Amino acid sequence: MRPTIKDVARKAGVSISTVSLVMNDRPVPLSPETKRAVLEAAQELGYRPNQLAIGLVTKKTNTVGLIIPDNSNIFFAAYTNHLETAANELGYSLILGNSNNSAEKTVHYLHLFADRGVDAIILAQSEFSDPEMTQKCLDAVRSLRIPVMLIDRLFRTRSTEAVLLDHFEGGYIAAQHLIGLGHRRIGCLSGPLGLTSFQERLAGFCQALEEADIPYDPALVVEGNLLADSAAPVLPALLKRHVSAIFAFNDMMAYGLYKELSRMKIRIPEDISVIGFDDLFFSDVLQPSLTTVAQPLDKMAKAVMSRLSQILREEAGGESLTQVFRPVLKVRDSTSVCRTETA
Ligand code: RIB
Repeated sequence: MRPTIKDVARKAGVSISTVSLVMNDRPVPLSPETKRAVLEAAQELGYRPNQLAIGLVTKKTNTVGLIIPDNSNIFFAAYTNHLETAANELGYSLILGNSNNSAEKTVHYLHLFADRGVDAIILAQSEFSDPEMTQKCLDAVRSLRIPVMLIDRLFRTRSTEAVLLDHFEGGYIAAQHLIGLGHRRIGCLSGPLGLTSFQERLAGFCQALEEADIPYDPALVVEGNLLADSAAPVLPALLKRHVSAIFAFNDMMAYGLYKELSRMKIRIPEDISVIGFDDLFFSDVLQPSLTTVAQPLDKMAKAVMSRLSQILREEAGGESLTQVFRPVLKVRDSTSVCRTETA
């Protein structure tokens, strides 16, 4: 049986309200002996104040809910770590919900976290390939009376607190790097093109092609599901069209390309260059190390928590703020000068 505040009061020989004042460190005149008696009794009993009960009084639990679409994707695991570090530095705890890319589970976690008294929610996927699901999610966000910060895959609405990457620039610098190496027949292994973030990456890619007078060939764009196993089934379509380089819209799919190209005895970068997106931990360890587009997760995580803390301290003013961060090209060994004639 979990010890209660009444057990602590009885053991310390004080009133319940005295225990509450001590445990919540309220600035009231209590003798050091009384404080020590209460803390010793609480420690001996293993008493922990009920955060929900405290939240009902103070309206704060110093807890933030984080909903991510897929914790098996290393990108979201890495982003979660940065967000938790940033949250802890500002005195907040993070609780995690994994929606498995499901709008229904996303809505479930939005309501669950709000009901459990979190002070705010960080939502890493408010957009889905099905527009009806996106609307369902945004309706749930708007129905909550606590701040919701949108990150990463968001459907830009007129008034959202958001921290996001400039996905367009990410696609642009990836293509520019390959074009600078002489590649003209560049394949794309894209993310789900029903999502704005991947549409923007493709648009940036196309902008770089246009600036280099390289005609855009939609036959060189194949869609993946962001996981490594989606690379193998679509790779033959690109090889048949004699691409000399492939831009994978995330590192996880680039890893899948490595595995399949190795099985086919196709060398990276001698026979084909590969560039990824996200700069995950393994990308620098791989042989050859993966050239990729890095997302400044540490900076974005700090911006998310700093903004939420400002809002919760009611120091943010009335206007919603969308903060956009620039991607960074990390040139490594998986891309090299184009050696094929037909490229
Ligand atoms: O790997 C997951 C991808 O989807 C990342 O590029 C991230 O931006 C997310 O949207």
